[in-house]
Amino acid sequence: GFDIGKLRAETGLVTLDSGYGNTAAYKSGVTYLDGEQGILRYRGYPIEQLAEHGTFLETAYLLINGELPSADELSGFRSEITQHTLLHEDVKRFYDGFPRDAHPMAMLSSVVSALSTFYQDSHNPFDERQRHISTIRLLAKLPTIAAYAYKKSVGHPVVYPSNELGYVENFLRMTFSVPAEEYVPDPVVVAALDKLLILHADHEQNCSTSTVRLVGSSQANLFASISAGINALWGPLHGGANQAVPEMLEQIQQSGGDVDTFIRKVKDKEDGVRLMGFGHRVYKSFDPRAKIIKEAAHDVLSALGKSDELLDIALALEERALNDDYFVSRNLYPNVDFYTGLIYRAMGFPNSMFTVLFALGRLPGWIAQWHEMIKEPGSRIGRPRQVYTGVVERDYIPVEQR
Ligand code: ACO
Repeated sequence: GFDIGKLRAETGLVTLDSGYGNTAAYKSGVTYLDGEQGILRYRGYPIEQLAEHGTFLETAYLLINGELPSADELSGFRSEITQHTLLHEDVKRFYDGFPRDAHPMAMLSSVVSALSTFYQDSHNPFDERQRHISTIRLLAKLPTIAAYAYKKSVGHPVVYPSNELGYVENFLRMTFSVPAEEYVPDPVVVAALDKLLILHADHEQNCSTSTVRLVGSSQANLFASISAGINALWGPLHGGANQAVPEMLEQIQQSGGDVDTFIRKVKDKEDGVRLMGFGHRVYKSFDPRAKIIKEAAHDVLSALGKSDELLDIALALEERALNDDYFVSRNLYPNVDFYTGLIYRAMGFPNSMFTVLFALGRLPGWIAQWHEMIKEPGSRIGRPRQVYTGVVERDYIPVEQR
């Protein structure tokens, strides 16, 4: 086939591809995505089937190991995770040091990074046992780390994990229980959050996953690589959009619910205003995750007996945008983030926790892709080229002559 490396060596040419819009950096067997037709499959399984029938833990197992687990494999996986949910007591001191108004995403990435100081026995990416134990530790501890971040932000004492509960129930209890009142998770909330985590579990070479791979390609340990991915996810053009959407909806609500004026501002690109939760680099017809989530938003709100004026604003925005040439001609449709915030709000999470929930969901995908890269024979360090635009050459001038 065509050898671009040889061409570069012979001609000095490089490809300049802004935002990697057209560059495949990896071969991957984890997730299949067809943006034209709105198809998303994990290891070949359609996202719709996994969301309807699967659980988050079996999806995590599938992504990481390549196959759905048997009943025995699943219970072994679950019990291994359960045994590692506790954080070392010294980890709590990190939270003591953070300011009370610290963003939970900043706490999440910092504490995940700090895990590599506690688990120095699992830094070698080429040792299978070490890869396995760091994978289990991360899956087990991220919900605890996330719940502690929430507790810090509201000034409540931490709640230790319970081994009696499922993955999602345990996380909800650690988040919402207070000494005065034990939180009993509503099965509707548990099922909805489990489904949302499945829908977020992988999305091939998005910004955070590519970051995990790039950092991991230097053979940095798994905790360091995942921490970098969490930081990449935080930005408002990526996972941070799920916090930006309700903030946008609240702004519109405060201005009297004037959807048309907001749409005009977006179309005029006034102050760079974008319709958050709309548009996607790859999906050009619809985002299959958004379709499922829109239905779930209705179901969860009605099952919890909650109405949210922001849902009406979101529906009005979507209806306007889908009938407006600006959005239609640019193939801008609601993405995964457009409706998730409304569900998280109904569950009782503050806006600042929304991207943390995304990170909990995306964790197995990051891990699966990191494993795939490490195990790939001949895998090389990620090292893009550049097109230099600076001064070609000049002579040094002593400071007194400048
Ligand atoms: N609102 C208004 N206009 C938009 C939007 C939007 N949400 N998204 C893209 N556009 C316009 C751009 O202004 C541009 O128009 P132009 O050609 O007139 O300048 C055109 O559509 C193409 O936009 P790009 O920025 O080139 O598209 P890109 O593929 O680089 O960006 C992205 C994709 C970042 C998702 C973008 O659509 C966006 O900013 N959306 C809002 C943020 C968001 O929801 N992010 C979450 C993405 S999903 C996820 O990460 C989980």
